[in-house]
Amino acid sequence: ETADKKKRIYEINAEAGRYFYRCLAGEGGKVAYAYLKERGISNATIKKFGLGFAPEGWTGLLQYLTQKGYKEHDIYEAGLAKARDNGTYYDAFYDGRVMFPIINVQGNIIGFGGRIITENSNTGKYLNTPETLVFKKKENLFGLNFAKNDNSGKLLLMEGYMDVISLHQAGIGNAVASLGTAFTPEQARLIKRYANKVVLCYDADQAGRKAAVRAGAILTDEDMKTRVLTITDGKDPDEFIKARGPEMFQILVESAKPLLTFRIDEIKKKYDLEDTEQILEFSEEAATLLADVKNPVEQELYIKRVAQESGLAPDTLAARVKVLQRKQV
Ligand code: CTP
Ligand code: MN
Ligand code: MN
Ligand code: MN
Ligand code: MN
Repeated sequence: ETADKKKRIYEINAEAGRYFYRCLAGEGGKVAYAYLKERGISNATIKKFGLGFAPEGWTGLLQYLTQKGYKEHDIYEAGLAKARDNGTYYDAFYDGRVMFPIINVQGNIIGFGGRIITENSNTGKYLNTPETLVFKKKENLFGLNFAKNDNSGKLLLMEGYMDVISLHQAGIGNAVASLGTAFTPEQARLIKRYANKVVLCYDADQAGRKAAVRAGAILTDEDMKTRVLTITDGKDPDEFIKARGPEMFQILVESAKPLLTFRIDEIKKKYDLEDTEQILEFSEEAATLLADVKNPVEQELYIKRVAQESGLAPDTLAARVKVLQRKQV
């Protein structure tokens, strides 16, 4: 029963994907197509990712799918229609959006992301399919259906659809994104099936750096080797690669910092290490972080580094770390 329902949702999603794809190619899709061109997306990439367009209107997709024999209620359960109180339905994506099919590792479309193409919209920039029987945002990664074939043992985790698409277009095939939600333990375990190393490539803003710290903690809990890349030009990987190209991006990947180095550097930024009072605060905050490090060798190496940066004897800092460590257990 559940298996049948899932199969029907996959079918409906596949049909919807074809509808959106054709809308993008058609007369009504000209503005959306121009938008993608403006953003440097090639026709081959549109095809590879099955990008599409959901035109403005309340029933375009509903009419298309019901004519193919699908029931409104089933379209609703696929997350592609909304229900009104009076029992009628309308399209979930009705305000003109570029559509990104979200495809699981088995190759089924589980849901869609849609991006507005006009600035004057009062709905969010991105809209995703709601949770359905097959769409569990927390458990999937955008682009993994392609990235799973990369055999480097390393995945690049970024924020957005466009980041992943731009990187794949530029020949970097191990990029995935966490679907706009905060990165979850389920997603970490999914990654672990395909790679043992992750490079976090979040946006260059404060929100991106915070998200990198949180995602890093989750990946560390799953024993994944994690590095953090810093975007040096543009707001995100998409903008960087357009400005500087794939070779420069690979250089960023190679120079990504180990997670702990990144975290200590983030703490260091907050303090003036010329000021004795602030050195004290820095070393205390860093010691708290180091008290959490499970691997004693790693811990010792970082104690030495932080001690040097604070002008402390390593033993002094190590003693403080041990005290904090005892408090934690
Ligand atoms: N996101 C979302 N809803 C929003 C904003 C963002 O679901 N209102 C998700 C999307 O998956 C988006 C990701 O978070 O791709 C990252 O957000 P952001 O950095 O703001 O967007 P970009 O991916 O950079 O989008 P674009 O380049 O198209 O502006
Ligand atoms: Mn039902
Ligand atoms: Mn962002
Ligand atoms: Mn962007
Ligand atoms: Mn971004």
